[in-house]
Amino acid sequence: MTRVSRRTFINGAGALAGLALLPRTVVAGAAKPIELTAKPGMAQLLDAGEPKTAVWGYDGSVPGPLLRVRQNDEVWVRLKNELDQPTTIHWHGIRIDNRMDGVAGLTQEPVAPGATFDYRFRVPDAGSFWYHPHNRSWEQVARGLYGALIVDERDPPRVDRDLVLIIDDWRLQNDGAIHTESFGSLGDISHGGRLGNVISVNGQPYGNVDVKANERLRLRLMNTCNARILDLKLEGLSPYLIAVDGQAVAVSQIDDGKLTLAPGQRADLVVDMTGKPGDRFAVNEVSRDPFTIGHFVLHPTEAFRDEPLAAPTALLRPAIKEPDLASAQDVDLIMTGGAMSGIEGAMYEGVYWPIRELVRKHGKVWAFNGVVGRSDEPLFRVAKDRSVKLKMVNKTPWPHAMHVHGHHFKVIERNDGRPLDATWRDTVLMDPDSTFTIAFLADNPGKWMLHCHMLEHQAGGMATWFEVGA
Ligand code: C2O
Ligand code: CU
Repeated sequence: MTRVSRRTFINGAGALAGLALLPRTVVAGAAKPIELTAKPGMAQLLDAGEPKTAVWGYDGSVPGPLLRVRQNDEVWVRLKNELDQPTTIHWHGIRIDNRMDGVAGLTQEPVAPGATFDYRFRVPDAGSFWYHPHNRSWEQVARGLYGALIVDERDPPRVDRDLVLIIDDWRLQNDGAIHTESFGSLGDISHGGRLGNVISVNGQPYGNVDVKANERLRLRLMNTCNARILDLKLEGLSPYLIAVDGQAVAVSQIDDGKLTLAPGQRADLVVDMTGKPGDRFAVNEVSRDPFTIGHFVLHPTEAFRDEPLAAPTALLRPAIKEPDLASAQDVDLIMTGGAMSGIEGAMYEGVYWPIRELVRKHGKVWAFNGVVGRSDEPLFRVAKDRSVKLKMVNKTPWPHAMHVHGHHFKVIERNDGRPLDATWRDTVLMDPDSTFTIAFLADNPGKWMLHCHMLEHQAGGMATWFEVGA
């Protein structure tokens, strides 16, 4: 397994078993719903022979079933709640019908224990998406409730294999149990969120993939960690980036194999296993405390083909309409709070609280425009088909993974020195003390969340909403 601790890492180098494929469910053209039951289960997150972990999962498994559908088809899922607390399913990154967005208390009542809820929606975009609860997500996602929703292109690019790699971290005790006492801990909420000490890939201890020389893979990487930013490096490989947050991008080759994924983000890569039979390529996490997530293990003797294929062509451009910046509605979002930020206080449930009481009485430490969490009034209302220019000012000493529901956006200004690009995103990572302006056409009516996808930050106040007129 990959254990992560403050300074030491055991890379589970002995474990070389290949990664099992995810369970697969075909939902395309379904005449009846696919049932997904949120319930307790067991997962082998530690190495074989070590204790299993009691988790919550869809159909009891981690990750939940891989839902696969074709672009423009309908997804029909019947959520059954066999947990002892209410839940929902949010379809992260889908430009969805608002009633199906799964946000407890905003777009639907949470689904009570024993109850069911039918999610039925069309998927307008091809790409790599995921699903997870939007009720107590800081606990429910950390216990294992998440899965991939893959929307296939009508004409998918030619690859030899299409692999979903869902990377998660877990905070486990030595007996393998999830450390539950620290759920919602103030330390996590006010700092970098709940970071785990064990990494899983597709719910398994170690992400080894058996491949052959010059085989071409499509990798769909997903970060489902509560709060961990993954600085990944595919050692010795130069993948092509073909999509970000589900949406196609102009193809670019990542020469050094490096890629950052904030919580909630996805990246689609096309990667050729350039090398000779018997080679191994590590996938490493290369931030402060580096560790290995897995390896591509090339077959000892056989090659898939003699030479790698030529560079892939781009996927079809996303069918997202450009915002009109000249007529856009301007909105400012000032992000404050967190440990060492000097925040003095903020509004919570209509009352101003000095920070000490906010923390002590309510466990809240973050604010957007001086307001903690989602209030009755939206951050803004916008007419349907008007564009929005949202300036986000991170006045905190912490990074944040800002996520917008129901729409993909472009970053049109950023002051962190990194170049602008034409990428459509649903989540963007902001450094401490940075200012980003994002823009999108508000063409999807309804009530939409805007929050930090570091789930403890969301719980601690970094959440608001906006309303797009009908
Ligand atoms: Cu993936 Cu509002 O969440
Ligand atoms: Cu945050």
